[in-house]
Amino acid sequence: MKKMLLRFAICVGLVLSPGVQAEPIVIRFSHVVAPDTPKGKAAEYFRARAEALTEGRVRVEVYPNSTLYKDREELEALQLGAVEMLAPSLAKFAPLGLREFEVFDLPYIFDGYEALRRVTTGPVGRELLGRLEARGIRGLAFWDNGFKSFSANTPIHGPDDLHGLRMRIQSSRVLEEQMLALGALPQVMGFSDVYDALRHGVVDGTENPHSNLYTQRMHEVQGHLILTGHGYLGYAVITNKRFWDALPRDIRRQLERAMDEATAFANRIAQEENEQALAAVRAAGHTVVYEPDARTLAAFKQALLPVHQRMEERIGADLIRAIYRATG
Ligand code: LMR
Repeated sequence: MKKMLLRFAICVGLVLSPGVQAEPIVIRFSHVVAPDTPKGKAAEYFRARAEALTEGRVRVEVYPNSTLYKDREELEALQLGAVEMLAPSLAKFAPLGLREFEVFDLPYIFDGYEALRRVTTGPVGRELLGRLEARGIRGLAFWDNGFKSFSANTPIHGPDDLHGLRMRIQSSRVLEEQMLALGALPQVMGFSDVYDALRHGVVDGTENPHSNLYTQRMHEVQGHLILTGHGYLGYAVITNKRFWDALPRDIRRQLERAMDEATAFANRIAQEENEQALAAVRAAGHTVVYEPDARTLAAFKQALLPVHQRMEERIGADLIRAIYRATG
């Protein structure tokens, strides 16, 4: 009798155990770029690892290409709990009152991925992610995309050729100042509208890493591209803090592990993805690609470096100096 009761209790336990019976926890991960980009691939990688490590107790739904939310809506949706995970570019945090994230937009502040990594994996990066908490957001990781080039529908041999052009930018004051420093006319626009705006001549040019240029087919409507590598574009992967904190501890631990693995993956593939995208842009044959010589690069730097000082008040001179120290 005792044995029977025990068996019965075990069966009931199995049926009622939340790990076996409960509906999976759903993480909606929304982003604005194509699946075939560093961010798109890393989001998929996270999905696969999160689902495997939690043995199906978590389901991750990835919504690429602004299919769920566009740039302007996604942060609000996260705060309201309408979506659980995002990876906005660091240029897009100022509407939360976090202007300091725009430090990543300063032209020529990072020499390359290695210098950048010293910031994102060091105290400055941790401190920046920590500032999201007061907005109800938990910062989980930094993911790379890469370094930007300028593109336009007219030849760009040097900085003067951008003079007077209407250039699409992300919603960052630093990027606005950068375009003004070149005598261009900055136009803030959501990512999902850029291709059409370029195609119909609403704007003349833009800037982006090559993976974004290629996967949005911008190169088909941009006849000229100059490889300036003048600024960095990367992401903060973020989640709704209340959602995250309410997760069962073992699940949260597995998700953190999945995120660590996805971050390593993202930052391993980003550079190569951008190189391949540039090769594909060249092969497509729509776009003249200019490789600036040392003099031309120096001219771009000369025009753009004063932006650092002009943005000190907005971003904080101390933060800018902390980055110089970390990368110097
Ligand atoms: C852009 O708006 O140009 C980028 O932030 C898009 C992205 O997420 O890479």
